[in-house]
Amino acid sequence: WPWLLGAFAIGYIAGSIPFGVIVARLFGLGDLRAIGSGNIGATNVLRTGDRRAAAATLALDMAKGWAPVALVFFLWGDLPAQLAALGAVLGHLFPIWLGFRGGKGVATFLGVTLGLSPLAGLLCCLTWLGVAALFRFSSLAALLMTLSAPIWLWHVGQRGAIWVVVILIVLIWAKHGGNIVRLIHGEEPKIGRR
Ligand code: G3P
Repeated sequence: WPWLLGAFAIGYIAGSIPFGVIVARLFGLGDLRAIGSGNIGATNVLRTGDRRAAAATLALDMAKGWAPVALVFFLWGDLPAQLAALGAVLGHLFPIWLGFRGGKGVATFLGVTLGLSPLAGLLCCLTWLGVAALFRFSSLAALLMTLSAPIWLWHVGQRGAIWVVVILIVLIWAKHGGNIVRLIHGEEPKIGRR
């Protein structure tokens, strides 16, 4: 079991890097937690109007999910890679560096899913894009995308990874409580609005 703990730790350490906060500061946008929804993700970086900073945040938050899963899979195989996936998203949601007040985990979820199964991950990205194109709510796209992930994993034959994704869905939905209430009340800002 030591390498299972090691796999989880590698995921957590990578996932806990708050790239949104770092990128916003590097791009001179100030403290991301004082902007828009206060969330540390790419959607909130986009509210500053800086698309390049938002794209960088998205890419880095996805990479920090993908990289530990791919590395741990290469080193130790399936179950450790699944624990690295769990660790990476938990790291983003509860980063030790920000007093455990992290983000909502969507980009990192996409990254770990790409690590667990490139095809299922790609289908998740397409699901996010499809829902976002239709409704223009980042949060709704994220919520429906997470629900699609077990279906895609099932279809591509990565059924052993579904347990992790189900745990992540519960955590990510819990983190979107405010978004869900705003969506129901018609108060959720659309993508690109401040
Ligand atoms: O990716 C996070 C997204 O689902 C919601 O972010 O800033 O609109 O709360 P935000």
